[in-house]
Amino acid sequence: MKFFVDTADVNEIQELQDAGLIDGVTTNPSLIMKANRPMAEIIKEICAITEGPVSAEVAAVEYKEMMREADFLSKIADNVCIKVPLTLDGLKACKAITDDGRWVNVTLCFSANQALLAAKAGATFISPFIGRIDDIGIDGMELIAEIRTIYDNYDFETEILAASIRTINHVKQAAIIGADVATIPPATLKTLVKHPLTDKGIEQFLSDWKKTGQSIG
Ligand code: E4P
Repeated sequence: MKFFVDTADVNEIQELQDAGLIDGVTTNPSLIMKANRPMAEIIKEICAITEGPVSAEVAAVEYKEMMREADFLSKIADNVCIKVPLTLDGLKACKAITDDGRWVNVTLCFSANQALLAAKAGATFISPFIGRIDDIGIDGMELIAEIRTIYDNYDFETEILAASIRTINHVKQAAIIGADVATIPPATLKTLVKHPLTDKGIEQFLSDWKKTGQSIG
C-alpha cells in the first residue's frame, strides 16, 4: 500500500519524506487555506520534496475553466496530479487530462457508482472519503470494499486512494480491503508507529542497560 500525506504543510511533508514514509502528497483548498500561502508556491515546494504524485485541486466547477486551471497547475512541476471533483464537468476534464498523459485524482467520491464513472473516465486515482461517510452514520469502509470489488471485476487500472482518513484503524482496514493508497494526515501517520508495549520495552531495556555500567563504542 502506498502512503500519501494529506497536508499542505511543507515542513511536515519534509519530515515524513526524510523518514521514507511517503509516496506522494494530497492537498485540497481547505488545506491550502490553512497553510495561508500562495498555492503555486506551496505546490512547487512540495513537488521538489517528493517525486510522487502531488495532488493540486482545481477551484473551478465548469469544464473550460477547470482545463485552464489544470494547465496552469500542470506547468508547476512534472509530478503534479490534477484533482477534479466528481461531477460531469470534472469527469470530462479527467478524460481530457488523462488522454493528454497527465495524472488525475477524482475527489469527493461518496458512492460506488461514482467510482465506476471515474474509472471509465480514465482516472489515475479515485478518492472515496471514508471519514465524511462515517460522519453521517454510514460505514465508509464499506465503500472501499465495494469499489475494490467493482474495479477487480473489470480490471480497471484506476487506483483506490482512501481519503478522509481520521484514525489508524481506517488505515488498517483500508489496507486489509486492498486500497492501493491511503492519504493520511501527518498526525495520524505518526500515530501509526506508536505502541505502549514498544515504549514500555524501551524503558525497561534502558533501565537494565544503565545497571550494566557499560557504554557502546
Ligand atoms: C484528500 O485528498 C482529501 O481532500 C482529504 O482526505 C479530505 O479529508 P477530510 O474529510 O478530513 O477533510
